[in-house]
Amino acid sequence: MARLSPPRQLIEEDNRQAFDCGRDSMNEWFRRHAWRNQQLGVSRSTVICDAQTGEIAGYVTLAMGHIEREYLPKASQRNRPENIPIFLLGQLAVDRRFQKTGVARSLLFYALKTSVRVAKEVGCVGVLTHPLDDEVRAFYRRFGFEDLPYDRRRSMMVRIKDLERNGFGED
Ligand SMILES: CC(C)(COP(=O)(O)OP(=O)(O)OC[C@H]1O[C@@H](n2cnc3c(N)ncnc32)[C@H](O)[C@@H]1OP(=O)(O)O)[C@@H](O)C(=O)NCCC(=O)NCCS
Repeated sequence: MARLSPPRQLIEEDNRQAFDCGRDSMNEWFRRHAWRNQQLGVSRSTVICDAQTGEIAGYVTLAMGHIEREYLPKASQRNRPENIPIFLLGQLAVDRRFQKTGVARSLLFYALKTSVRVAKEVGCVGVLTHPLDDEVRAFYRRFGFEDLPYDRRRSMMVRIKDLERNGFGED
């Protein structure tokens, strides 16, 4: 099995063209937009690479965002502002050659730990994602993400409070 490097930020020299997770839309986004967005500061992509060849094994993308108060369960809507700040986990994908070896788990843990750390300084209630299909929903459910009941886009979210409770705030 390939030796992998620890998560680090995407750099311009990374070979994004060779990346293939099996989903054209995500390959396309990564090849065309990931670096541009990084430069513009609208999202940050973190990669894990093959330590020997430098090939990108997987990437995860985080940005700031918000959701409408009415997407939350009724009990959580009271006394909340109309726009609720969240971290948007926009993309998570692993190259086919590296799938099923724990790369997605490592990238997701990195993103969730980062979110908890930043949320200590900047107000934010959770990490939100827009799963592409039911298989991906099952993947996120394993990591504590829950459906937002009133969101027509069927987003899923895990609360910062719950991540802290599960040790994501510890070093
Ligand atoms: C979904 C994806 C990110 C998983 O990557 P991976 O590196 O193979 O996943 P890991 O090896 O880290 O698996 C972590 C855990 O999730 C589980 N898992 C992996 N893929 C899963 C799926 N499709 N559905 C449910 N669980 C899944 C694994 O069994 C593992 O659980 P375990 O540790 O308890 O055994 C990868 O298949 C991929 O990039 N797919 C194409 C892009 C995509 O659909 N991205 C989804 C985000 S929008």
